[in-house]
Amino acid sequence: MILLGIESSCDETAAALVRDGRETLSDVVFSQADMHALYGGVVPEIASRNHITVISRLADEALRKAGLTKKDIDAVAVTYAPGLIGALLVGLNFAKGAALALGVPLVPVHHVRGHIAANYLAYPALEPPFLCLAISGGNTAIVDVRGYTDMKLIGSTHDDAAGECFDKAARVLGLPYPGGLPMDNLAQGGDDTAYPLPRAKIDGAPYDMSFSGLKTAVVNLAHNASQKGETLDKAGLAASFAAAVSDTLVPRTMAAAEALGRDTIVVAGGVAANSRIRADFEKAVRSAGKRLFVPPLKLCGDNGAMIAAQGYYEFLAGHTADMGLNAYATMDIDAV
Ligand code: KG4
Repeated sequence: MILLGIESSCDETAAALVRDGRETLSDVVFSQADMHALYGGVVPEIASRNHITVISRLADEALRKAGLTKKDIDAVAVTYAPGLIGALLVGLNFAKGAALALGVPLVPVHHVRGHIAANYLAYPALEPPFLCLAISGGNTAIVDVRGYTDMKLIGSTHDDAAGECFDKAARVLGLPYPGGLPMDNLAQGGDDTAYPLPRAKIDGAPYDMSFSGLKTAVVNLAHNASQKGETLDKAGLAASFAAAVSDTLVPRTMAAAEALGRDTIVVAGGVAANSRIRADFEKAVRSAGKRLFVPPLKLCGDNGAMIAAQGYYEFLAGHTADMGLNAYATMDIDAV
């Protein structure tokens, strides 16, 4: 079964063709990051307009690259939540039009479920159950993946997402948007003990997280240094920051896996590309005697293939929609 996957929840427009949830036939991503870099972050209206301009061409290109025609598409999967509402609506309406015109099912996909499914494309042997940490620009969640479409939210951030925090910290250090990769590069060779940064805990919620205090600490350090005319050890601050984020994410994920009796840990989302987080997970998983799956860098960020992959399993579970399907800016992963 071949699914067309459409993704437009933020500043990447993407279309892909995937067979049976596992085999990527084509995966075309158009990143608008350069356009938003000018403003230091995503401008929702600009994102929506750019999605409209390129989405149809991207779907054609995905078909061409896969060597397929429209008649080969068996279903259309689309991200319908969570994300920027105007941006989501562009992909959703395109997908509705495609499904209607082709006479095939329309399959709604939760964006974070898609990030998790990126791992199915990379690792053919991976099957639920497993414990997943999903970390992206807009979402930070520890999820118990009991089945392909049976998920339970175990913990999440009370404020900023991990990626958002990387982007804001990068901004005060004068790095371009999106700031995660430049922060990662800057941290290489930096002293991760250069600055004492907070690792917040939430009373009574051991798997929940908070990143706003960490973000404020970095902002204050940068502003104080500039007001006093002091030189900031930027590499040290980037390394200390990555350590603080990783110390917040990795032990919670490991503790949740232990509590739930999960032997397999999966990491997903754009921030899963972070070298410190990947290295810390490798160490923690090795000493706990568990298995670790982290997507290759290409599959960490937003793409259409992950939506088609999860769409396949949603379709098998009978999760299809009619033309009344709406988009939602927020939605818990287990509220689907
Ligand atoms: O998954 P994604 O492409 O979009 C969302 O679904 O939100 O994630 C984008 C986020 C951005 O915040 C970006 O700065 C971050 O992933 N990111 C990284 C790295 N590469 C991308 N964060 C930390 N280290 C990286 N190497």
